[in-house]
Amino acid sequence: MKGVLICGGSGSRLRPLTDITNKSLLPVYDKPLILYPLQVLLDAGIKQIVVISGREHVDQMAGFLGSGGRFGCEFSYLVQDLPDGIAQALGLAESFACGDKICAILGDNVFFDDISKDIQNFDSGARLFLKEVPDPERFGVATLENGKVVSVEEKPPKATSNFAVTGCYLYDSRCFDIIRKLKPSPRGELEITDVSDWYVKNGEASATVLKKEWIDAGTFESLFRAAALVRDSRITPNIRDK
Ligand code: G1P
Repeated sequence: MKGVLICGGSGSRLRPLTDITNKSLLPVYDKPLILYPLQVLLDAGIKQIVVISGREHVDQMAGFLGSGGRFGCEFSYLVQDLPDGIAQALGLAESFACGDKICAILGDNVFFDDISKDIQNFDSGARLFLKEVPDPERFGVATLENGKVVSVEEKPPKATSNFAVTGCYLYDSRCFDIIRKLKPSPRGELEITDVSDWYVKNGEASATVLKKEWIDAGTFESLFRAAALVRDSRITPNIRDK
């Protein structure tokens, strides 16, 4: 399995912090945000990871992460020229994936559950990670029936469940064919939710419901909360720092 760390987008909800800095390099207490999703990939034993960011940030991403040697992995870098959506970014990783399954994770998501076994055991289709939240309309929303995902919808005005779709996606290699056929959403982006929707409609999407905290640190409040949680629970990425 290959890892795809998606750090695109303009971080508009975090301006002026993101005026010149990629969102995923902002601090969560004492470490840059990106180390948390990176740790999810490393914990699952994924060694080949591509980092995707906008052209204005690729130098800082590579400057901070380097070759991967210090984390025991190997990084490649890809540029997303325009912020055309998470699925568009993922599509850029097709030749990197080279027919392998992928674990795509968003550079601003902090997971407190250990999901390494789910990642390692993933075989085919799609697997999503859901978290019950009070404000599902802010996210992709999934509905479950007998443990199977029966619908996914991107930021619906009225959610059909409280399950937010978190920013970690396990897909088999068909995801790239699916992305090629996607049409932009009303917000002009290729939506990752539409990739998941293809697997849902095919009856091939399973899900894990997270028990601990999960944070999409894309707003001042959520970034602040992530920092407070990390400080209080003393969860810190176990990086092999030299
Ligand atoms: C994206 C996805 C959304 C998902 C969220 C998780 O939203 O489009 O489905 O629930 O990430 O962090 P964005 O943060 O880009 O608005």
